[in-house]
Formats: sequence, C-alpha cells, structure tokens
Amino acid sequence: MESFTGAERTTSFTESVIREMTRLVNHLHSTDGINLAQGFPDFSAPRELKDAACRAIQDNVNQYAITWGAKNLRDGIAWKTRHFLGIDVDPEREITVTCGATEGMASVMLGLLNPGDEAVIFEPFYGNYGPDCALCGAIPRYVPLLAPDWKLDRDVLSAAFGPRTRAIVINTPNNPTGKVFTRDELLAIAELCEQWNCLMFTDEIYEHILYDGALHVSPATLPNMRERTVIVNGLSKTYSVTGWRVGYVIAPAQLTDAIRKVHDFLTVGAAAPLQAAGAAAVCWPEAYYQKLRDDYQQRRDYLIDVLRKTGLEPIVPLGAYYTMVDIRPFGFRDDVHFAQWLVAERGVAVVPGSSFYKARGAGSNFVRFAFPKRMETLERAAPRLLDLPRESEAG
Ligand SMILES: Cc1ncc(COP(=O)(O)O)c(C=O)c1O
Repeated sequence: MESFTGAERTTSFTESVIREMTRLVNHLHSTDGINLAQGFPDFSAPRELKDAACRAIQDNVNQYAITWGAKNLRDGIAWKTRHFLGIDVDPEREITVTCGATEGMASVMLGLLNPGDEAVIFEPFYGNYGPDCALCGAIPRYVPLLAPDWKLDRDVLSAAFGPRTRAIVINTPNNPTGKVFTRDELLAIAELCEQWNCLMFTDEIYEHILYDGALHVSPATLPNMRERTVIVNGLSKTYSVTGWRVGYVIAPAQLTDAIRKVHDFLTVGAAAPLQAAGAAAVCWPEAYYQKLRDDYQQRRDYLIDVLRKTGLEPIVPLGAYYTMVDIRPFGFRDDVHFAQWLVAERGVAVVPGSSFYKARGAGSNFVRFAFPKRMETLERAAPRLLDLPRESEAG
C-alpha cells in the first residue's frame, strides 16, 4: 500500500523550538524549572477580566458570536483605536475578531496574498510569518535587522522590493528583538509600499509594552497609509490572557471582506464569552496601561541588570518582553549548546537565537530571554544565571 505523507505545503514547517524548550524544562525540572523561553505571563490576568468572563458564561453567552466578532467587542476596539491611534475605523466593515493574532495574520495572508506573491519579512522574525506565507503559496523575502541596535539597512530593504512584492510584514514593538520602529523608519518603509503598490501587515500585539518612554507608532497613522495597512492585534499580551485566543484585524472594508471570508471558513469565530469579557477590557482607562508599562519596566530593568552582572551582553529592548543576549563572552560552541546547558544544569529555559533566522548559522551568537514573569520568578532565576562556566568547564 502506498504510504501517506503530509501535504507539500507543510514540509518546510518545523516543530517550534520554543515549545521544545518548554517541554525540556518541564521534563528535566518538573518542580523547580523556570521557563524564560515562552512568552506568556506566569502572573494572574486582571481580576475584573476573569470575573467578566465567568459572568458571561453564567449569563448564557455560550453560543456562536457573530462570525466577524461580537458587536460590543468590535465597538470597543473601534473606540480604543480612536483613543490610542487617533484613527476612525468602522466596526461594521473594518474589524474582524479572530482566534488570536495568530489566526488573524494567517487569515490576512490567506485572504490577501496569491500564490507566487512575495512578502518582505524582517529577520530575526516571529516564527509564524514564514509558515503563514507557505500556507498561501507566497514567497517570503527576508531582510535583516542589524544587531546590536537592530537598524534597517535601507538599501538592502529597498532591494527586496520588486514587481511581485505584495506586502511587507512589520512587527512593532518587535519579538524577538525588542525594537520599536521609529516614525522615520516607518515612513521610509511606507514610501517603498507606495512605490511598489504593496500592503503593510502590521503585528502590533505589544503596542502597550514599552520602556524608557518609547512611543508606539502604528503605520496606519502615517500619511496615505491607512488604505494599505492591515493591523493585527489581540488581547493576549495587553491583558495577560494568551490562552484566551482572542485577536483582531483592522483593515479597509474591501480587504476586510476577503479576510472575513477566510476567517469564517477557518474558525467560524472566537470564543463568545471571552469576547464579551474583552469588550469591557478594551475600554479601560489609561491607568491600566500605565501600570502594565510600569510593571514591565521593573521586570526588564531587573533582568537586564542580572544578565549584565553575569557577564552576558543583553541588547536592551525598548518594547515587547524579550531580550536578545549575546552569549559570545562565554565561549559556548553556539546558541543551542548554551540553551541546552542552561536548561539541563540550571533549570532555566531560553530560546536559541538561530530559531529566529532562516539562514543556517545566523543568530547563533544569541539566545532570547522572555520576561513576562512575576518578580519572584525572575529573582529565583537570578542566582542560576550567575557564575556561568566557560564551555570547557561546562563539559
Ligand atoms: C509578534 C507576535 N505576534 C503574535 C503573537 C501571538 O498572538 P496571539 O496569542 O494573539 O495569537 C505573538 C506571541 O508570542 C507574538 O510574539
């Protein structure tokens, strides 16, 4: 009998290294492991949000919501978008609620890219954009952000655009680098989008997690960019509910039509009671976001300090909740050896930097630490990060 294999479009997909590190730390150190690999909070979600979700279930919000999102959540998202970004979006025709930003980006690409279209993606990247391209037969064109300050080389960027380019994916604030794209950088990218008539898909899931007074600029707010920008966002990071799987997409109406069709056939809709709870959260006052920022600033400052004392060289993030750390001072063979040693010997999981790059060997001088963690967790991690041996001592 002929043996069966997966479809060709899946052959380039690899198991997530991040989840692999999570599995390792749980397996090797089931009681006292510390997971600084995966980007989810180990602290509670806001009480009011949890109460609202419980109430929604008890109030029988348990059947399908409108496919493209409960009306009160879409109204709330439109309010929040006006409040924080200063742009008007029509909740009836320009917002789609999805199962997380993850499904959001997949629906955007499937809805808007044709096989053979090219999409520009910055490297190091968040691991979903390449596979999303593969799902719709689009071709990723990778453009490096240059360490240590993750600068754009505008000539290299410009050379990546051509007649087949249909979109560029921008993630600001950025995972894994912590870069917050400046207005000037975004204006330069916008100019290329106009020149080549392409779309911008902007993943803004960390929009409220910013340090040292950094400002988030949504590309949709730049001159002439609203009509060609598709914003992907969600509740996961801003409200510390990564397991709820509620995200959303904001796009001009004719693009939204295509995105909604894909979304409908992929998932029908996001969890109705969690959308009901989210509807209240997206209208919370500024104080909530200020506290979120202050708490993250404390975590970032603490971890950076610990890493520096260790002799590692963290690149200080201006946004999101990760830091890429240069491990060369420790002379381990590469990032994978470092990460494996750290999880086995010290029970701390981090992510090898090379998993954020396409080219073989690229990024192997980095590991990524995630710090959406209670201060107590970071304090527990600190002594385990001190006195790291040289490779020869590590064996
Ligand atoms: C840049 C980026 N986009 C999207 C996501 C996933 O978002 P969601 O939980 O809404 O699917 C993550 C999660 O780590 C992320 O880092």
